[in-house]
Amino acid sequence: MKQKNVYICQNCGAVSPKWVGKCPSCQQWNTYVEEIVTSGPKNGLSPNAFNEVKPVKISEIQTNTAERIDTNNTEFNRVLGGGIVPGSVILIGGEPGIGKSTLSIQIALNIPQKTLYVSGEESASQIKLRADRIKKTSDNCLILCEVTVEIIIPAIRQANPSLVIIDSIQTLRTQNAESAPGTVTQIRECADMLIRFAKENNVPIILIGHINKDGNIAGPKILEHMVDTVLQFEGDSSHVYRVLRGIKNRFGTTSEVGIFEMLSDGLRQVSNPGELLIHHHDNDTPGVTVTAAVEGLRPFLIEVQSLVSTAAYGVPQRSTTGFDAKRLNMLLAVLERRCGFRLNTKDVFLNIAGGIKINDPAMDLSVITAVLSSDLDIAIAHDVCFAGEVGLTGEIRPVSRVEQRIAEAEKIGFKKIIISSAHKKNIENIRHTIDITTVSKIEEVFRLLFVRRKTVQE
Ligand code: TYD
Ligand code: MG
Repeated sequence: MKQKNVYICQNCGAVSPKWVGKCPSCQQWNTYVEEIVTSGPKNGLSPNAFNEVKPVKISEIQTNTAERIDTNNTEFNRVLGGGIVPGSVILIGGEPGIGKSTLSIQIALNIPQKTLYVSGEESASQIKLRADRIKKTSDNCLILCEVTVEIIIPAIRQANPSLVIIDSIQTLRTQNAESAPGTVTQIRECADMLIRFAKENNVPIILIGHINKDGNIAGPKILEHMVDTVLQFEGDSSHVYRVLRGIKNRFGTTSEVGIFEMLSDGLRQVSNPGELLIHHHDNDTPGVTVTAAVEGLRPFLIEVQSLVSTAAYGVPQRSTTGFDAKRLNMLLAVLERRCGFRLNTKDVFLNIAGGIKINDPAMDLSVITAVLSSDLDIAIAHDVCFAGEVGLTGEIRPVSRVEQRIAEAEKIGFKKIIISSAHKKNIENIRHTIDITTVSKIEEVFRLLFVRRKTVQE
């Protein structure tokens, strides 16, 4: 076998014979690391092997759809599409300290079947301490502290578990690759061996993966292509709420999310998010509005807070938590051009309650009204909520699942919901006690909420 030194992009796995500053394939800077690769007839097939493989008729293929493993965790099952498929490989990515190890040890302790938790990061006693915090123990949960795949695979064979958890893929190493642990070649090789093992023995494996600073799972992008399911565990580590989001799923949808709350004794499932993310203010405060949002398939109400103040320095600040900064800039530009607000001289801060990132365009209308409310210093009544996307011309666009949003807002006790006039048809047939106001332009929203009340105040 021949060995040679090449440079490999740690982000996308592209290979170059010499060092390059900017990866020509993924455009990232400073991602090339020198690695040693061995080439040669490593997995060479004998000529006879070609005669042994035969295509089969699709009608004759047996399927075993039923036997998903129930994780005893509704939120986790929900994201997977109803439990773990035997032989599947699930990659869970997330920032350090977000709770990946906590989630996986909780699953290992809750599953009635035998599980093997392989840790390359923590010692057995550290894992035991964590399990003690969760106040749970199980005779069916085995712990192995090891980093070499060549030792791990025979250990899995011997233990014969129904589920294997690897914490984390970046800490593993294999003798098949010469590079340091954590490099692309090592991750790819280790993952490949584990995935092959999972498929051949029908044992599901959960791989935990670190993510790098721009939010992608560290290591080659191909790792995401190799596994069956990719889940992202996100949230703000200074807040208690965590969202488990499906990014790829060969056995279910990716539109569902799982919501958890990090408590002192582990992660609690939040099965009914509803009014979780709204504070109940005694009096109406300027700059606070509520969105009837939908994340995954579930509706809930979430508070948007904004603060607009005169810029202290020359360049006004725009700062957001839980909301896309580019989207905020776009909405501010729309406000400026459509309603004539001079926001380019003001600092704008925007905060979505709970530190959860919501990917729901229906937040737009709340963001705009929160900004206006803070800028004008006029509060919006606390029993009013919003759901609408805002377009570049200032039009209020329809959103998905509007009936569900209305029903949830009504259930929680909101008196009024403001939505796009494009929904008029959808709401004709639903029974509701909540007041539904439809709007088609930002100007209309502005007049509705602020102008009349302003003249009354004067
Ligand atoms: P951890 O699962 O170690 O994160 P990761 O594996 O993603 O790096 O979680 C670490 C954080 O979670 C740490 O800041 C402590 C907190 N935590 C709790 O709040 N409650 C608990 O019961 C546990 C086990 C951890
Ligand atoms: Mg960990």
